[in-house]
Amino acid sequence: MAKIMIGYASRTGKTEKMAEGIAEGIRMNGHTAELRKISDIKNEEEMEGYDGYVFGCPTYHRDMTPGMKNFLFLAERLNLVGKIGGAFGAYTHSGESASMVFDTMEFVFKMDMTDLKALSLKEAIIETDEGLKACQDYGKALSEKFKN
Ligand SMILES: Cc1cc2nc3c(=O)[nH]c(=O)nc-3n(C[C@H](O)[C@H](O)[C@H](O)COP(=O)(O)O)c2cc1C
Repeated sequence: MAKIMIGYASRTGKTEKMAEGIAEGIRMNGHTAELRKISDIKNEEEMEGYDGYVFGCPTYHRDMTPGMKNFLFLAERLNLVGKIGGAFGAYTHSGESASMVFDTMEFVFKMDMTDLKALSLKEAIIETDEGLKACQDYGKALSEKFKN
């Protein structure tokens, strides 16, 4: 059984809802998912000991949040090479953040990222059955990689 950290930023709760749905999908596959607000994480040691990492960030001003930028500098201090990863985030119209975070995990941290790429969801669908299913499916597909 794998233990996966879902670290997220969320100002109005939409990306947090996505995090909860992704955690459900991971748990449906029999793995452990731990939800962590990145604002609560003060040093990289607090992020050690996970088999996989999924980071979530909403898009504000066509960018990721300042908190997520600082968090990624903390994550850089861990050796995440080859760890399974994914990224997600809520948005209304442009939605750059999730793929920016995904790219950092893939190209800078050299993680083993899910083939699904980043999960960006428009905020209007997040609290619908369709939105919940998309998040659960992402968590399920990501944790399937632990069977190999
Ligand atoms: C000031 C402001 C700027 C925003 N800028 C963008 C943007 O550039 N692109 C986009 O897709 N959404 C933008 N949004 C919408 C948010 O991404 C959206 O409301 C998202 O669901 C918030 O997620 P959260 O509740 O996890 O913080 C912006 C929202 C606000 C209030």
